[in-house]
This record gives sequence, structure tokens and C-alpha cells, in this order.
Amino acid sequence: MKILVFSPGYLGGKIVDALCDRKHEVVPVKVEITNLAAVSAALDEHRPDAVLNCAGKKGTPNVDWCETHQIETMRSNTIGPLVIAEACVDRGIHLTHLGTGCIFYGQSPDPKGWKEDDHANPSAMYTRSKYAADLILTRLPNIAIVRLRMPIDEVPDPGNLINKVMSYPKIIDVENSVTVVSDLINAVIGVIEKKGTGVFHAVNEGTMKHRDLIALYEELVDPSHTNEWISSDDLVKLGLATKGRSNCIMQNNRLKEIGVEMRPISVALRDCLEKYAENLKNIKD
Ligand SMILES: NC(=O)c1ccc[n+]([C@@H]2O[C@H](COP(=O)([O-])OP(=O)(O)OC[C@H]3O[C@@H](n4cnc5c(N)ncnc54)[C@H](OP(=O)(O)O)[C@@H]3O)[C@@H](O)[C@H]2O)c1
Repeated sequence: MKILVFSPGYLGGKIVDALCDRKHEVVPVKVEITNLAAVSAALDEHRPDAVLNCAGKKGTPNVDWCETHQIETMRSNTIGPLVIAEACVDRGIHLTHLGTGCIFYGQSPDPKGWKEDDHANPSAMYTRSKYAADLILTRLPNIAIVRLRMPIDEVPDPGNLINKVMSYPKIIDVENSVTVVSDLINAVIGVIEKKGTGVFHAVNEGTMKHRDLIALYEELVDPSHTNEWISSDDLVKLGLATKGRSNCIMQNNRLKEIGVEMRPISVALRDCLEKYAENLKNIKD
């Protein structure tokens, strides 16, 4: 399958590598995604079977950046995906777009977790800008949105939740749905290959508390690690974040419906931390 990928960055780069490993023909493209002429020209030049949009602004050093850069955030997270969708719909090309589960805040209507077609309740600029795109993309034909949450990966990186959590001296301990990156890659490729449409929640089975992650980190990576525990409310009160963070539990039924498995988080997390420890050791050696 020939797959054109818009702006692979941290996650997109890993998905591109995995697509190549699975013998797909991959065309990574970096054009301004709000520019319909540029997006259309890329599609007409390469004539892909499917498109994956990995472009977006998630904020540096974190999503609080989006509160002070609202127009850039709106352009990359809302307008850009709609422009890509217009170009793909016009040409009958299947589009997969990376969304976020952070559009859900708190308790879900169903006690088992937020479902793919639940109305979200985003609060921050980043999550509003992502959900605004989702609201339209879900009404257009031949489009899949793959929502992930707090990527956890076996390779050390500032974008990896393991690195982020371990760099904080004060940590909250809330139960959440999370995404192990190797399972995300498998899910994205499954959705593209099966030309799935609608929303897919790419979160691992079960939930994780930061305490679980830290316990495994201390067991497998660094027994000398220490941190202080704070409440979720303290995050903003102590000035550690501008906006409260999304905490939520999500269901992933639609992936199961198309035959794509996300491993139980207990299994995936241990596997990931074991590989993370090995990779960290290799970097240091
Ligand atoms: N990483 C996460 O924690 C996470 C969690 C949930 C969902 N997601 C979603 O997953 C997607 C990919 O995330 P990522 O972590 O791979 O982000 P990333 O490393 O920042 O990669 C995104 C890429 O998109 C590019 N980009 C931004 N605006 C663009 C525009 N208007 N036109 C063309 N390219 C543009 C960026 O270039 P510049 O750097 O030059 O802006 C960057 O190369 C995003 O949509 C994000 O919302 C990520």
C-alpha cells in the first residue's frame, strides 16, 4: 500500500519506520497543512492509497504553550486536519488522523469509561482545538481518527511519559487510560490497512496510576528514584501547570470490532519498561 504521511514528528516517525518494516511504500511529506494547494499538490504528485496525518501542535515544553499560542494551535490542530480532509475527500483517498483522548475530562457517562462516540468536554486550548477537528472529521466519509493518551515508549525521549514523569519532583497519582507506543503503532497500521472509519480509541486495556509506572521504573530501571506525591488540584495551585490536566478512562471497543488488539496495560507496561531499561543501558554504554 502507498501511504503518504503528513509531517511525521515524534510519533509519526515511529509509525513511518513500522510501516516501512511491514513493506508499505511510505512517502513522508512536510508541507504547511493549512495550505490546500500544497496539500493537494502532494496528493496529486504521489497518488497514495491512504493518507496519515501526524502533524499537530502539542506545545513545547508542554500543552500550556497552546494557551499562549492560540492561533498557531488552531491552525495546526483544527484548520490543517480539515484542509487535509477536504483534499482527501475530493480524491476519494482514505485518511487516518491522530487525535487525543485528552479531550475527555473526568468521570464518563458509562462507568466503564468514555466511548468513541461520547461527546467530549475539553477545557484547555490544545484539547479544544483537537476536538473541534474531530467534530467535523467524524461527519466526513472515509476518515479514521485514532485517539491516544500519554504515550509510553521503550525508547528514552523527552516526549515519552516515562521521561516526563521521572523528571518531575512532584507527581500526581491519578487513574488513567494510557497508550503504549508499540500498541499504538499496531493500531494505526491496522486501521489504515483495514480502511477503518470513525473514531478508534488506541488505549491499552485497563488503567494505570502514575504510582504503577514509578513502581516498575524503580524495580527495572533505577531503584534510587525518589519523588514527592501531590494532589491533582495542587498541580495548578503550586504553579506547576497553567491549566488542569485531563484525567480519564476510555473504552477501546471499536478497535476490537475491527480485530485490532491493545495488550492489557499490566503486560504492555512491564514489557515496555524492560526494553526501556535495556535501551537506556545501551545509550549509557
Ligand atoms: N505526543 C503526545 O503526547 C500525543 C498525545 C496525544 C495525541 N497526540 C497527537 O499526535 C500527533 C503527533 O504528535 P507528535 O508527538 O508526533 O508531535 P510532534 O513530534 O510535535 O510532531 C508533529 C509535527 O507536525 C508538524 N506541524 C505542526 N503544525 C504543522 C503545520 N501547520 N503544517 C505542517 N506541519 C506541522 C510539526 O512541525 P513543527 O515542530 O515545525 O511545528 C512536527 O514536525 C499530534 O496531532 C498530537 O496532537 C500526541
